[in-house]
Amino acid sequence: NKIAVFASGTGSNFDAIMEACDKGTLNADVTLLVSDKINAAVIEKAQKRNVDTVVFNPKSFENKAEFEKALLADCQARDVEWIILAGYMRLIGSTLLEAYPKRIINIHPSLLPAFPGKDAIGQAIDKKVKVTGVTVHFVDDGMDTGPIIAQEALSISEEDTKDEVRRKIQAVEHQLYPQVIQSLLIKEEAK
Ligand code: GRF
Repeated sequence: NKIAVFASGTGSNFDAIMEACDKGTLNADVTLLVSDKINAAVIEKAQKRNVDTVVFNPKSFENKAEFEKALLADCQARDVEWIILAGYMRLIGSTLLEAYPKRIINIHPSLLPAFPGKDAIGQAIDKKVKVTGVTVHFVDDGMDTGPIIAQEALSISEEDTKDEVRRKIQAVEHQLYPQVIQSLLIKEEAK
């Protein structure tokens, strides 16, 4: 079960996935970390764990198809079967979607279809929602629009600062994402 993680941020979900692999609760090999941000903290986390990293600058390619062709080659060279997005802030194009149908998944910090796109936590706080949560979904060509695989809700209150809400959300993410990935792998094996 070889997976690639695509991430552009701090990589707390990347770490949660790696820890689940170490513990054996997730039966996968993370063979590649892809990042489109040269200084993303997740890169160092991957290097520490001896995971191959591919860091690219989208601006040095003519278009999305060109850089996705290169990423596809990087994935195929490592027999990647699943692409796990964890804070990769870019829409996936047809090159990768066609190569990995129903094999690219994303995690989003809201109960989709509420609050898609950037700063979902800020959007939820602005609307004064009392319940928000985390969604794991298959990726399609839209922004956080693909079929939903799993969701977990949590309560927030007006007293919670944005940092507190983020901490609550991330605690849920770090449990939920490895579990959902594992259940997808098991379903696939049973086919
Ligand atoms: C997570 O909140 C995830 O839901 C969103 O991006 C964030 C990534 O955080 N898509 P991290 O880099 O894994 O800490």
